[in-house]
Amino acid sequence: MDINEIDRRRTFAIVSHPDAGKTTLTEKLLLFGGQIQVAGAVKSHKIKKTATSDWMEIEKQRGISVSTSVMEFDYKDYKVNILDTPGHQDFAEDTFRTLTAVDSVIIVIDGAKGVEAQTRKLMEVCRMRNTPVIIFINKMDREGRDPFDLLDELEKELLISVRPLSWPIGQGLRFKGVYNIYENRLNLFKPSKQVVTEKVEVDLNSDELNSHIGHDEAKRLRNDLELVDGVYPEFVIDDYLRADIAPVFFGSALNNFGVQELLDCFVEIAPKPRPVQALERMVNPEEPKFTGFIFKIMANIDPNHRSCVAFCKICSGKFTRNTPYLHIRHNKTVRFSSPTQFMARRKTTIDEAYAGDIIGLPDNGIFKIGDTLTEGEQLHFRGLPSFSPEMFKYIENEDPMKQKQLAKGIDQLMDEGVAQLFVNQFNNRKIIGTVGQLQFEVIQYRLLNEYNASCRWEPLSLYKACWIESDDLEELDAFKKRKYQYMAKDRDGRDVFLADSNYVLQMAQQDFKRIKFHFTSEF
Ligand code: G4P
Repeated sequence: MDINEIDRRRTFAIVSHPDAGKTTLTEKLLLFGGQIQVAGAVKSHKIKKTATSDWMEIEKQRGISVSTSVMEFDYKDYKVNILDTPGHQDFAEDTFRTLTAVDSVIIVIDGAKGVEAQTRKLMEVCRMRNTPVIIFINKMDREGRDPFDLLDELEKELLISVRPLSWPIGQGLRFKGVYNIYENRLNLFKPSKQVVTEKVEVDLNSDELNSHIGHDEAKRLRNDLELVDGVYPEFVIDDYLRADIAPVFFGSALNNFGVQELLDCFVEIAPKPRPVQALERMVNPEEPKFTGFIFKIMANIDPNHRSCVAFCKICSGKFTRNTPYLHIRHNKTVRFSSPTQFMARRKTTIDEAYAGDIIGLPDNGIFKIGDTLTEGEQLHFRGLPSFSPEMFKYIENEDPMKQKQLAKGIDQLMDEGVAQLFVNQFNNRKIIGTVGQLQFEVIQYRLLNEYNASCRWEPLSLYKACWIESDDLEELDAFKKRKYQYMAKDRDGRDVFLADSNYVLQMAQQDFKRIKFHFTSEF
C-alpha cells in the first residue's frame, strides 16, 4: 500500500461559536483549494436564529448538509478533508461526534468577542481526545480587542498554551496586514472579498517596512514582535501535535486575509491520520488492512425514497469498493457497491479510499453510530462520548394505532444520534434528552413525516443525567433503591441517575462517596 497516500492526508474540522466566521473561512479554504471559483458559492447552511420553527429551513439544511458534510480538495501535495459541523448550537452533540473523526481542529474566534460559550465546550472535547488545535482569530478588519489580551483570554479560558504564528498590524480601519511570523514575511492588506492579497517580502528591520505601513506602525510592530518572542515559547511542532500548545493566526476570512497563510502552515504542520484507539488495541493508519467506524448518519433526506448515508472514517488501510467487510456489531459480512466521496456540492462514487478519508456508505438501517467495520478482526473503536443532555421531556404516543411506528422511529432517530433516550426504571416512560429546544421540534416533525407517528411532549424538569458506577456494588445497590424513582437506563443498558437539581446531585455525592457520577458516557 502506498504510505504516501496516508501521509499526505489532512482530515480536520473547523469549529466556532455561531457567527464567528466558520462558514466564511470554510468557503475561503475551498476557494484556495480550487473547489469553487468565486466566493459566495457555498451558501451558509446554518439555521438562522429566527427560523427555529421554519421546517423548510431545517429540511434544506439537511439536504445541503449531506453534500457539504465532507469537503475535500488537493492543495499542493496534500489531500485536505474538511468535515463540516452544524452551525446551530442545538446540534452541538453532532459537532462533538464529528470531532471523533478528525485528526485536528481549527477553532475560529471572533476578534471582537473573544472566547464564547460554545468555544469552551468545543475545546473541552478537543482536550478529552488530545486533538491538536490551531486558532484563527477572525474579523480583524473590525475594531476588536488588543491581541495580547485575546491571547491571555485564550490561555485562561481554553486552558491551553498559545503561540502566535502571525501578528496583526493595527485593526479595524487601521488594519494594515499581518506579519507572518512563521515565514518571517509581511502580508499587506487590501480589503477584498474576491481576490487573494499580494504578499510583500520585507525585512522587519528595513526602512522599507516603514514605507509600507508607516513609521509608527512599524515601530509598534517591532515592539510587539519582540514582546511576542519574549513572552511566548518558540514554536515546536511536536508540542502542537501533542496538543500542548495551540498556534494562533490572525486575519479576516470575509476579506480573504490571513487565510492562505493559515492554509499553507496548516498543511505543513497539521497531523497526518493519527492512530485510533480501539477497545482491543491501538490501530495504526499504516496497517495494510482496512478498519473504520461510523460517526454520523444522515437518514431519510428525501422522504419519497429512504436514502440514508452513513459516514465512515477510515482508520487504517485501504477501503475498496465491492469488497466484503465485517460489520462487527451484526457479525455479518457487508459489501458496498456505491460508496461515495464528496467534492463541494458533488457526490461521486469511488473505487478506493485511504486511512484518513471519510466515505459515505449507503445505509438501509444496518448502521448505528459507533459501528466498526474491519476485514475480519474483532475490533471495537471506542464508544463516542455522550454528554449529559441539557433538556429533558417525556415522549408520549398520540395515536394508539401507531405505537409500533413511533417505537421504530424513535429507535432509528436515536441510532442516528439525533438525541438521547433514557427509560425511567420506575414508571417505564421514555425520556428524550437534548441539547436544545430545536431538537424536540425536529424529532416531532421527523417522526410524523418519516414514520407517520405522532408524539406529544410532556414536561420534565431535570438538571442532569449522570452515568453512575462504583466498585462497591452494595453501595450502588443501596443508591439505586434509595433513588428508584430517578433511576433510568440508557440505550446500552447503563445505569443513569436523573438529578432534578444541582443540590440533589451534591447531596447524593456526599451521601454515597464511593459512587462516581459522570457527566459523559465515556469514562
Ligand atoms: P458561522 O458559520 O461561524 O456562524 O459564521 P459565518 O461565516 O456565517 O459569519 C457570520 C457573520 O460574520 C457573517 O455576516 C459574515 O459575513 C461575517 N464575517 C465573517 N468573517 C468576517 C470578517 O473577517 N470580517 C467581518 N467584518 N465580518 C465577517 P452576516 O451578516 O451574519 O451574514 P451574511 O449575510 O454576510 O452572510
